[in-house]
Amino acid sequence: MRILVTGGAGFIGANFVRLTREVRPEVQVTVLDLLTYAGNVDSIPEGVELVTGDVADAGVVDALVRDADVVVHFAAESHNDNSLDDPWPFVHTNIVGTFQLLEACRRHGTRLHHVSTDEVYGDLELDDPAKFTPDTPYNPSSPYSSTKAGSDLLVRAWVRSFGLEATISNCSNNYGPFQHVEKFIPRQITNLIDGVRPKLYGAGLNVRDWIHVDDHNRAVWTILEHGRVGETYLIGADGEVDNKTVVQTLLELMGHAADDFEHVADRPGHDMRYAIDATKLREELGWQPQYGDFRAGLAATIDWYRANEDWWRPLKDATEAKYARLGR
Ligand code: NAD
Ligand code: DAU
Repeated sequence: MRILVTGGAGFIGANFVRLTREVRPEVQVTVLDLLTYAGNVDSIPEGVELVTGDVADAGVVDALVRDADVVVHFAAESHNDNSLDDPWPFVHTNIVGTFQLLEACRRHGTRLHHVSTDEVYGDLELDDPAKFTPDTPYNPSSPYSSTKAGSDLLVRAWVRSFGLEATISNCSNNYGPFQHVEKFIPRQITNLIDGVRPKLYGAGLNVRDWIHVDDHNRAVWTILEHGRVGETYLIGADGEVDNKTVVQTLLELMGHAADDFEHVADRPGHDMRYAIDATKLREELGWQPQYGDFRAGLAATIDWYRANEDWWRPLKDATEAKYARLGR
């Protein structure tokens, strides 16, 4: 099997490539990645073919899709704060890029798995007993989540109108190695390594549903092998935790007092809570998460950032300069 992985130099895509080498060594992987600020060649294991190019470039995409049996589409602009600062790259990559990929898959009759996010469903109140299900109406809040929602709807239309063989997954917040230091957990870990206090947006009551990146990627493999074409699967591991508790756990694991953090300006339009009901994935396809203990997963992630300063150090100053400009 030949797999084209878009965005394979980013956080989840690179972990997917690594997992694939481990669990499906016979699979031939090609990565298509533009190597934006979020892409890092050092995240891709040696020996994997990397094509540096834009998923919105029809010519590049057509040639690669022609040679692939399956496409797994991770490439995206992925950070909400950036989308509030400058939305255009999100429209370009997430919508136009997905469009070009869909057209190439249609021309060549290629199976596509589209990687999306729970943020397409908007947010939940803290006391709402409900979780997101595949039937929850789309209600995205930010330029990031609205462009991901748009990309999902394009995929659904190509399935229905053109018979494209595609599946979609919507996953909750991932953590683990190789995540860019702009994101919440690696930002705080690397701040603490640098002797800087963690930064909590607003009151820190917002809840995210954390899942280890390997559990996400094992679910993607489960869907590739057993998923029904045209279906949407929600991926989550019942990992709801509020942001303040995440920061306090990091502080404790790294030997600091529980109140050694600072509140900073809140994110405009900040979604309050995400929560995934993954019953369909668990019951239809038999997937189960392997990382049950979030605290242990955080401890392993701290160890990874301590041991891999060469990987994240070149990104840190520019990231913090951007946050200083945004007042966060
Ligand atoms: P990331 O920002 O770490 O990586 C994105 C990758 O895409 C980078 O390597 C970047 O260089 C590449 N890229 C960006 N624009 C491109 C373009 N025009 N052409 C080709 N490559 C381009 O993102 P991530 O956190 O790894 O997220 C991967 C996917 O998973 C995204 O589609 C995101 O919406 C989705 N997702 C992420 C999470 C999460 O918690 N991080 C959760 C659910 C879903
Ligand atoms: O739910 C899935 C989504 O999770 C993905 O689709 C996105 O690509 C991914 O970035 C993530 O989105 P969030 O906006 O939830 O993640 P982020 O890491 O930016 O922030 C997590 C929470 O922490 C959020 O409530 C904002 C807050 N936060 C973030 C940063 C960077 C802080 O309190 N302080 C910070 O410094």
